[in-house]
Amino acid sequence: MKKSISIFGTLLLVWQITLADEGMWLPFRLKEQTIQKMQELGLNLSANQIYTADSASFNQAVVGLGINGRPFRHFCTGGLISDEGLFLTNHHCGYGYIQQYSTIDNDYLTNGFWAYDKSQELQATNLTVSILVRMEDVTAKAFENITNDMPTKTRDSILRINIHRIEKEAVQGTHLKAKVNEFYGGNEYYLSVYEIFEDVRMVGAPPSAIGKFGGDTDNWVWPRHTGDFMLFRIYAGPDNKPAPYSPNNKPYKPTRYFKINPQGVSENTFTFVMGYPGTTEQYLPSYAIKFIKNTQNPLSIHLREIRIETMKKHMELDPKVRIQYSSKVASAANAWKKWIGEIQGLERFNVVGQKQELENKFRNYYSQNPDYLSILNQYNEIYQKLTTIMPFALYFTEGVLRIEILSYAGSFNEITQADSATISSLIKQTRTFFKNYHIPLDREIFVKILAEFNQNIPENLKPTFLVILNKKFKNNSEKIADWVFSRTILTDSTKVLALISNPKEHKKLEKDPAFQLWKAFSTTYDNQIRPQLVETRQNLPELNRQFIKALREMQPESNFYPDANSTFRISYGQAKGYSPRDAVQYHYQTTLQGIIEKDNPTIYDYNVPEKLRELYRKGDYGSYTNSQGQLPVCFAATNHTTGGNSGSPILDASGRLVGINFDRAWDGVMSDMYYNPLICRNIGLDIRYILFIIDKFAGAQNIINEIYSSNN
Ligand code: ARG
Ligand code: GLU
Repeated sequence: MKKSISIFGTLLLVWQITLADEGMWLPFRLKEQTIQKMQELGLNLSANQIYTADSASFNQAVVGLGINGRPFRHFCTGGLISDEGLFLTNHHCGYGYIQQYSTIDNDYLTNGFWAYDKSQELQATNLTVSILVRMEDVTAKAFENITNDMPTKTRDSILRINIHRIEKEAVQGTHLKAKVNEFYGGNEYYLSVYEIFEDVRMVGAPPSAIGKFGGDTDNWVWPRHTGDFMLFRIYAGPDNKPAPYSPNNKPYKPTRYFKINPQGVSENTFTFVMGYPGTTEQYLPSYAIKFIKNTQNPLSIHLREIRIETMKKHMELDPKVRIQYSSKVASAANAWKKWIGEIQGLERFNVVGQKQELENKFRNYYSQNPDYLSILNQYNEIYQKLTTIMPFALYFTEGVLRIEILSYAGSFNEITQADSATISSLIKQTRTFFKNYHIPLDREIFVKILAEFNQNIPENLKPTFLVILNKKFKNNSEKIADWVFSRTILTDSTKVLALISNPKEHKKLEKDPAFQLWKAFSTTYDNQIRPQLVETRQNLPELNRQFIKALREMQPESNFYPDANSTFRISYGQAKGYSPRDAVQYHYQTTLQGIIEKDNPTIYDYNVPEKLRELYRKGDYGSYTNSQGQLPVCFAATNHTTGGNSGSPILDASGRLVGINFDRAWDGVMSDMYYNPLICRNIGLDIRYILFIIDKFAGAQNIINEIYSSNN
């Protein structure tokens, strides 16, 4: 009891003042929000050096990675390191691009890929790169003509129109792109203006045995030894402006790039991270945390486990399947493992209890304010309802609709009305699908997931078509799979391609069992499940806005940072180990020694490349050692980061690159909802290991020379 009181005592503080190192801060607000704190901790730069609108400051050395068509949803970050558009990001961010070019005979995933001159670089199709030019507060303009007593619908539509106008006006007559995002739950709106490049090429990637060393076993775990880096180059048109891919494009000349600190980091030194964190939910109420911890995460974990285990089983049987499913299993397993860690962290720090504590304070503080008081009751009601509905939804969205043959069938939904562009994209999609599709694997997932679905979904929520099949095959999902897989044409690429190119055949698909089953599941989901979810959640955005507003009014002295939303942010902290549990202390740095200790040729994830063993045996580390003569690999630090921050440059007090971010440590992965400086760590790859691999392992002197000649 005493112990829990003392935990509460210290943890209560968390809600009142933002603790050291917590937060994902806005570059254009550094002066008012955090620069002083950062300088006290060691930063040697002014706010203007880090960010100045429309000029060559550090923000222009950071790139957000996106996909053609949705360039603002940055899935990773990178840092420019040469005056010829070379940038560093993570191996796992570029994994799909490496995989795209890999075959059994020419397996870049296994062997690595290095361009020894620019002509060998490979286009990363559909990858976009955005550089932030400026960011500003446009709240007043966004709220023009909006009044407090307006119905939410009217408010939303005026807001949308305003935002659209702001985005248009911001970049009129330029080649730049604008995006307005909501902050603080929609209490504020900020504009980001980007230059977006679309000709991006792969320059170098280590073999998976380095770039993915430790695989899913070590993922989200400290101590870590993964060489998770990759190099790309931005190409631009003759005017140095963004241009579509062309062999005539020239390497982009950045206005700013990062110089490297070849000494790397040392313990307790100041670091900061610039990048594009995706989503955090720091201001969720206790009801939401309970729902995520007890309902949403556990079932999602269970359903994913079925797919992951089946994929792994088949990958072990066949090297071709290993390549085909490497990217798929990695991304499925990544979220799966994080959800597990999240539950543990939320439990361990009694985050529900802490939030309840805050909510009690909230109730007292607002005892005379019925509007604010009702927020909590409304939250309670919403999350109770979600607790009932969400499991059904998950059996669809995390279950049957993820069976590959069914989701692929779904892409033919509108084929009868398809224009030629849609047809050609279907053809492209079909080629990729079959390149990475293994029928026995998918069939096994089909059987298992369908059985789960049948067992757990009430009869009235089962699509009629499934009910008929269940009856015909006596609920035996093996038999249903036999029937579907033996009759569908969607497992046969020749037949599918023939069908796509012959419009007269398109109607035939309506009778295809895989298509019919997909249609049945997705229609039931769209008509019976989704509307309930939408209705239940419909007031959430407005509630969140009110709740965050009320929290800020209640604690005017504290420095609130807005949740991550794929916009440019800065986090700061120190290189530091931590104590995961009683009597155990983790050091902040790992070394090559640790890789050799893990080396085991019989375990795929720990099979160290012979060349690396040899460099270790010879102690051939060049100038890349730490003060003890060891070769550093990874380090832990207290920068507050999340998904999307992968590949983010980690900088020292003077803004020199000391590493790149790629993960978080297991004991603190609940930090999207609750950050605790004692235990939450980001994991970075030491710049010395990156240089060592490029130099000594790959012998890519062209890249080393480029980096060093830019470093003067
Ligand atoms: N956990 C890191 C992130 O969230 C790395 C993921 C890639 N690695 C993997 N083994 N799946 O993206
Ligand atoms: N690996 C993550 C990413 O892809 C970063 C880890 C995290 O979630 O903090 O962005």
